[in-house]
Amino acid sequence: MSLVLVERDGAIAIVLLNRPEALNALSDELMDELVSALGELDRDEAVRAIVLGGSERAFAAGADIGELAQISAVELYYQRRIERWDAIRGLWTPLVAAVSGYCLGGGCELAMACDLIVASESAEFGQPETGLGIIPGAGGTQRLTRAVGKALAMDVILSGRRLSAREALAAGLVARVVAKEAWLDEAARVSREIAEKGPVATRLAKESVDRAFESTLATGLEAERRALYLAFASEDAKEGLTAFTEKRKPEFRGR
Ligand code: CAA
Repeated sequence: MSLVLVERDGAIAIVLLNRPEALNALSDELMDELVSALGELDRDEAVRAIVLGGSERAFAAGADIGELAQISAVELYYQRRIERWDAIRGLWTPLVAAVSGYCLGGGCELAMACDLIVASESAEFGQPETGLGIIPGAGGTQRLTRAVGKALAMDVILSGRRLSAREALAAGLVARVVAKEAWLDEAARVSREIAEKGPVATRLAKESVDRAFESTLATGLEAERRALYLAFASEDAKEGLTAFTEKRKPEFRGR
């Protein structure tokens, strides 16, 4: 049985973690399958947005603790396990996390590596690593702090407090909270909306927002301006602007 299920639905793809017996704990094998499935979809120009989800009970309950308990520090280092996460951040295609239930440790870090998070009312976000004697190692201390600020990040990371979906929304960690049963449908709907927009512009806009998260204002503004000129040079921009004036729907080709 595959640890990652991939379904294509027109211009979007839905990728679901499939290790229910371990609440989608992110084992080495699961991460390998995930990175390779996402990479393949990313190379397919027809895929314009990807939903990444788990199950109703758990997005993911973190790294696989059984594996971590066995592995040595040097093995972890040599296997470059955490570097593999950079491949997820490097994806071009917008990635929407569909979070229901537990979203803990590496699970929360995986959701934060996505471009935006749609959470069900049942979602619970946390970084419980210090309770295991380790720390969040796949971006948790950095991305959570940038998303919600120092006070709340310290609380979550040091005390093990879990944030409800509503708290995560108020703090800026998630983009939308939806009814429990709508966790996947709403993320797919958002992804379809993203997929309808100009593909070149969408990628440039995503890169520019990431720049805001990762650099200074001056660097970000400079990058944004150049991205705008590049977007203007695309056939998609001509099509989008002309379609508006002709009162018709644009037909973007990603060129
Ligand atoms: N790794 C491996 N197995 C896990 C797991 C994990 N992170 N989380 C849950 N499981 C397994 C449990 O061992 C259990 O398996 P068995 O049925 O074989 O015993 C199964 O999933 C169901 O879990 P529970 O019986 O514990 O379910 P629950 O509803 O009582 O509790 C929970 C759910 C609160 C999420 C609890 O499972 C839990 O605390 N999990 C661990 C959460 C955690 O600490 N995550 C951080 C991991 S470290 C990390 O992620 C490092 C990093 O930054 C890279």
